[in-house]
Amino acid sequence: MSEMKIGVIGTGAIGQTHIERINTKLQGARVIACADPNADFCKSIAEKFSLKAYDDPKDMINADDIEAVVVTAADNFHEEYVLAAIEAGKYVFCEKPLAPESNACRKIVDAEIAGGKQLVQVGFMRRYDPGYRQLKELIDSGDYGAPLMLHCAHRNPEVSGFTTEMSVENSLIHEIDVLRWLLGENYETAEVVFPRTTRNAEGELRDPQIMYLTTESGIRIDVESFVNCKYGYDIKCEVVCEEGTLTLPEPANVMKRVDAARVTPICRDWSERFVDAYNIEFQEWINACKEGRVDGPTAWDGYVGQVTAAAASKARDAQSVMTIEFDEKPAFYN
Ligand code: NAI
Repeated sequence: MSEMKIGVIGTGAIGQTHIERINTKLQGARVIACADPNADFCKSIAEKFSLKAYDDPKDMINADDIEAVVVTAADNFHEEYVLAAIEAGKYVFCEKPLAPESNACRKIVDAEIAGGKQLVQVGFMRRYDPGYRQLKELIDSGDYGAPLMLHCAHRNPEVSGFTTEMSVENSLIHEIDVLRWLLGENYETAEVVFPRTTRNAEGELRDPQIMYLTTESGIRIDVESFVNCKYGYDIKCEVVCEEGTLTLPEPANVMKRVDAARVTPICRDWSERFVDAYNIEFQEWINACKEGRVDGPTAWDGYVGQVTAAAASKARDAQSVMTIEFDEKPAFYN
């Protein structure tokens, strides 16, 4: 089977890592073009990876030789390019968030349904992390009884230019998606509380924060977001079930015994922690597109994620518990 030809929109940090991964590590596809309104920068990336450079991403989406599109532009531009790809009838992988506003996500859902074919996948890569996959298998086995509570944490060593709002919208959006997928249930309520703020928080930033979610069956989730934890990039998830607890495995790193201490390294950032997840995510996306289907997180998952994030943001601003209300799931996504 021939290689699927891909165009990447947005040649910033993650765009470049995806180009490199598809063209050097994965099989069955090749990035042949890129587009970014920052023309000189786009040309330099195109030269580096031997791609054709487009100033206008829509020209690239509509080019005859482009079979699928990857959107890694800044958040506010996702909607425009995803809609253009749907109109062109091309598979589109869009980095999270599908769009910053839930109305825009709903517009994408409606456009996809109107087109009559599932084309959109959202970049919620945690679903591909081998540790989360093991957790899901164990929960789904039912051997440990029903999940009752989840205790989770999402910690970054430090993040500059971060605002109080970004904890939910940029960090916890990953937990919002992966925990819903793990449990196979929608959320009902959201709340965000502020512990004492670290002295390492810049300006007005409230850090850490704790988001509480409840699900339809009453499972209670707490997730800590701490973007100035200083020591490393650390992701935790413990699922307390009726007859046992299940804990997300730590990345496999050698433990050293040195200087009268046991030392096991912790990842420094998300790109290191989730490198396997990104590779698996893209390989499976390529394989599915070539078989004519989408089997990863859908535009509907993108919509549900943004509705939940919006409710959590409201809850944070109002310092109260918010009920989360979704539209009814269209049969198209069953
Ligand atoms: P970045 O700022 O490094 O790159 C963004 C690129 O978008 C820049 O090259 C910029 O010139 C380009 N851009 C701006 N306006 C555009 C437009 N109108 N059309 C096309 N391109 C445009 O940002 P980064 O970190 O690469 O993030 C890109 C996207 O990937 C964001 O949506 C972000 O949320 C997502 N992301 C997802 C991650 C994950 O864990 N799945 C991790 C990091 C980023």
